[in-house]
Amino acid sequence: GTGLRSLAPANLRIGSAMEMKLLDADPRFRDIFTTNFNALTAENAMKWRNLEPTRGGYNWTPSDQLVEFGQAHGQAVYGHTLVWHTAVPSWIDESWDTETIRDLLRNHVTTVVGRYRGKVWAWDVVNEVLDEQGGLRDTIWLRKLGPGYIADAFRWAHEADPNARLFINEYGTEGRTRKADGLFRLVRELRAVGVPVHGVGFQSHLRWDRTPDDTTGNLRRFADLGVSVAITELDVRITLPVTPEKLQRQERLYRHMLRACLTVPTCESFTVWGFSDATSWINTTYPDHGAACVFDADLEPKPAYDALVETLRER
Ligand code: G3I
Repeated sequence: GTGLRSLAPANLRIGSAMEMKLLDADPRFRDIFTTNFNALTAENAMKWRNLEPTRGGYNWTPSDQLVEFGQAHGQAVYGHTLVWHTAVPSWIDESWDTETIRDLLRNHVTTVVGRYRGKVWAWDVVNEVLDEQGGLRDTIWLRKLGPGYIADAFRWAHEADPNARLFINEYGTEGRTRKADGLFRLVRELRAVGVPVHGVGFQSHLRWDRTPDDTTGNLRRFADLGVSVAITELDVRITLPVTPEKLQRQERLYRHMLRACLTVPTCESFTVWGFSDATSWINTTYPDHGAACVFDADLEPKPAYDALVETLRER
């Protein structure tokens, strides 16, 4: 084989965020995806607001199809995400009493993890629960349920699928930041009291002109707590216009992140947040940025793609 997946060490999954509608729309896109990646993350399909747009009114189709696609193409499925403050369904009303809200959250975790038991190898159980200072983010879950909601979510998920690897996922924590220190303390505390946290996901939404500080050392200290680590949502956005110099800086950052992952033995998964500049979330969210992925908008490989190939070859 020639794609990234054939070059990866046996213990490392190489993934991309994915949406079923992208796979349906373009056979060339689908080919690049299946040739290069042996893992996928549901970019949106498994978010609570999309799964249960009305109370009890589930829409499983996009999510089920993605899981089936992954199984059919030898791709491990990474579940994203059970508890995320921006994906709370609009029908949930914060003024409801604590017990009701707690039951809803428990039922959600149990239902989703249970449905994909044995089919999803890892879950982002909680996503972005920290603020920029490294304390717990002020969300509906913290306000209604207190800080124990995090441990509860992990326990519920573990009960629903004892074999799934359970991750805490965060952004802005790839390098040694204050927020990364907060994440480190949180994971250490959770582990100390026996909460089934098995891994820490580092989203890695990077900018072309900033290198995270000591990524390898940072990942290593988490690994030393006895958890796996994963790069879960890597992209490197460029301020427009794109220039050869910026593409080169981008290439270095992709290399930097893959090297860090390859260096830390418990790094089990390296995932990019989409692989095509045509469909990346960056284009709509940051109108003055773009070109964040390893394939350009015509699906031609960029220097960053070649860097991943080289880095996998030289390990
Ligand atoms: O599919 C609908 C479309 O039918 C509709 O016409 C259109 C109008 O707004 O919306 C489309 O849905 C959008 C969806 O992306 C699919 O493109 C949503 O509005 C939009 O909010 C959604 O954005 C996603 C975002 O999370 C919010 O859930 C991005 O695709 C996705 O890349 C992004 O991913 C997050 C991770 O989950 C967590 N970490 C950060 C990362 C980037 O923000």
